[in-house]
Parts: sequence; C-alpha cells; structure tokens
Amino acid sequence: MKKDIILTGDRPTGPLHLGHYVGSLVKRVELQDQIKQYIMLADVQALTDNFEHPEKVRESIVEVVLDYLSVGIDPKKNTIFVQSLVPQLFELTVYYLNLVTLNRALRNPTVKTEIKQKGFGDSAPLGFVAYPISQAADITAFKATLVPVGEDQLPMIEQTNEIVRAFNRLYNTDILVEAQAVLTKTKRLPGCDGKEKMGKSLGNAIFLSDSADVVAQKVMNMYTDPGHIRVADSGKIEGNIVFTYLDAFDSRADEVAELKAHYQRGGLGDVVLKKRLIEILEALLAPIRKRREEFSADKAVLMQMLKEGSCEAEALAAQTLEQVRAAMKLDY
Ligand code: TRP
Repeated sequence: MKKDIILTGDRPTGPLHLGHYVGSLVKRVELQDQIKQYIMLADVQALTDNFEHPEKVRESIVEVVLDYLSVGIDPKKNTIFVQSLVPQLFELTVYYLNLVTLNRALRNPTVKTEIKQKGFGDSAPLGFVAYPISQAADITAFKATLVPVGEDQLPMIEQTNEIVRAFNRLYNTDILVEAQAVLTKTKRLPGCDGKEKMGKSLGNAIFLSDSADVVAQKVMNMYTDPGHIRVADSGKIEGNIVFTYLDAFDSRADEVAELKAHYQRGGLGDVVLKKRLIEILEALLAPIRKRREEFSADKAVLMQMLKEGSCEAEALAAQTLEQVRAAMKLDY
C-alpha cells in the first residue's frame, strides 16, 4: 500500500476566518501527526480574481501563515509553501489545459457561483475560469491522495480526477494519481448574516485575528429568527445562525439541545444565546490570538520557513514533472 499524501491550500486574499477553521484548519492539525501534508499558499490562484491588487495577495501571505501557526499547524511536521515559488505547477497547468474543454470548465458549479458572486458577468478572465485546472496541477504534482476540503471544493476534486484519468489514458501511463476529498465535520459555516457561506468578500466573516470586542459585536449582530420579537415568543432553530454556530463550536451538545427546546417553546431571548456563543468563541480564539502575537514578532523567520518549504515542495513537483514530460514525449 502506498502512503497517503495530502495537499491542501488557501487563497491568500486576507486573514482566515471561522469558516476556514471548521472547514480545513482543524482537520490539518488533526492529521499532521499521521500523514505527510503539503500546505500551499495559493497566491497565483488568489491573483485570478485579484490581479489588479497584487499588494493584497502579498500582504495576505504573512497573515495566512500566522493563522496557520496560531491554530497549531506545525511547520516541522508539514511542508508549508508558496504556490508561485513552485514553477512546475504552472507548466503542468498548461499541459492540463489541453485535456479540458472550455464548456467543461464553464460548467464547474463552484466557478459558476463565484462568477456570479464576483459580478464578472460575461467577462470572467480566462485565468479565473481555468483555476480548477491549475488546482488539479497543484494536487497531482504532489501525487496527493487526500484533499481535506469544504463541500464547495468537491467539483475541484472531480475535475482533478477527470484530468488524471484523461492524462493516464492518453499518454498510456499510470504516473498520475487520483485524489479523494476528505470532507470536514461541519460542511459549511454560514456567514453572520445568515448567507449560505462565510466569506471575506461577502463581509459576513469572523476572522481568527479579530479582537474580542469585534467578535462580540459581530455575534450581537448575528442573524437569528426575525419572527422572534419578544423573549416570550417561540423561536425558530432552522436558519438561526446562532444555533448553527453553537452546533459547530459548543462541545456541550446536551445543553445546546435543551436551549433549542426552550427557544422553540418561547421564553428564551437571543441575547442569552449570543452571550453564550461569545464566551465559547472567546475560549477558542483567545489562545489563537495570543500565539499569533508571539509568531508575529519575527516576520523574517516566517519568510525563511516559507522559502524552505517551497524548496522542498519544488523538489517533489520536479520529480513528477520529469515523468510527465517523458510521458508527453517532451524529454529531449
Ligand atoms: N481553491 C482553494 C480555495 O479557494 C485553494 C486551493 C488552491 C486549494 N489549490 C488547492 C485547496 C489545492 C485544496 C487543494 O480556498
């Protein structure tokens, strides 16, 4: 049996939020003692919808690394690297572009949603439409077998495996390896406003680096049940974001179940629930915030760590590319 390899990544477009936390950060910490993980700062992917703001991506690199370290991702156990420092990924992307039709690329449900959300209309840049192909290159260059992701990334894994099968068949080889998604417990954390997904660009996120005051304020403004006006009124649980968050972060599930029943009966106010959630989030975020401060003391050390990680990542990607070139008769 071959050993599993994990490749995950994030677009550095700002600090990471609770959606990332439940979506992939917890999983990475959990897996780091068992499986080799390559963790990528996808700066080139971030540029596909931020090409006019390279400074934002540049600044976010450090923010995201700080988020990683402060949640407990250990750079000694994992290889943390920067996508743009591994040029093999872009070479591989170009080869893969031949294996995907334009129509197939445009049918990707996540890309479709993002094109709407970002207001691209009919003018989505080609680089953006093609980012799942580039993501397939990221995953396969490391021969990753497992990719811990949120639900919205499932179409990327599907696209990746289609490319793997097409490549291996066309070039009569077995060098590329199919990847499997590892879904996380909380499939998707909604935003504070009740929207389906928490996102920085959606303005509804609680960031891991938010101060205690900001977190409290965001929780107090959270969407609950608009029909629950007086404390005595009976309230709805479904779509009530405070309960969604309690389900995700409050380990005392029995108490949460009681609160739900009480809320539905009537006589339980939103403020009581929100105060409980604030306490729970603080217990989670305070130590993260503290470690973040410690790690921010020396940014040069962080960059050095990223460069070393990127060298190691490049060495592995280069091996795969050598095989890919040979399979494609490009081994002059
Ligand atoms: N698309 C991911 C996101 O938006 C980031 C990413 C890039 C990624 N390459 C990846 C995730 C490879 C998993 C595997 O956050």
